[in-house]
Amino acid sequence: MSQDVKIEGTKTRKEIAQAIGHKCLVSRRNFLIGAGVTTTIMITLNPGTPQAQDVPAQITEYPRKFVAKLSDLKQDVPFDFNYPDEGEYSENMIVKMGVRAGGGVGPEQDVVAFNYACTHQGGALDDTYKADTKSLGACPLHLSTYDLTRHGILISGQAYQSLPQILLELDGDDIYATGIFGLIYGRKDNLQG
Ligand code: FES
Repeated sequence: MSQDVKIEGTKTRKEIAQAIGHKCLVSRRNFLIGAGVTTTIMITLNPGTPQAQDVPAQITEYPRKFVAKLSDLKQDVPFDFNYPDEGEYSENMIVKMGVRAGGGVGPEQDVVAFNYACTHQGGALDDTYKADTKSLGACPLHLSTYDLTRHGILISGQAYQSLPQILLELDGDDIYATGIFGLIYGRKDNLQG
């Protein structure tokens, strides 16, 4: 699917991303290997000057996927789902933690979702949620543990990257996944398919 969108007065990747919301700008290389929905937008370089020029740019949109109903989530009971596809390392969890968290949705901003693949060497973090510390881990391979209240930052262990956080959107009682903050282990692009 493609469409043309004209955005006046924007020229940096960050500005374009802000203008279009939860969409991921990609490089030419990523566009070539990407499998997500692509859109062509026109951006204006040097607006208001004699050098003003409209140029095309490619963006890739994450799929918007229904994950769960807010009313069905029980505190500190994770619910598993796949995102952004059904491929390797696409397993994630969503959990209502009962405490406010970075990126949390819901009235208490306490509902978050994270990928299960440890960023160190891909150890499976399934069934390692700890309600007392609101963390995932310890990883069964080398004990990395991640803080789910602070965007999956590493608490301890061998990893040096935060756990990828699934971006969520609440629409009434429905919770949707709309993107990913961070790179899933083992992938060069989250949308490689
Ligand atoms: S794979 Fe998880 S700490 Fe090494």
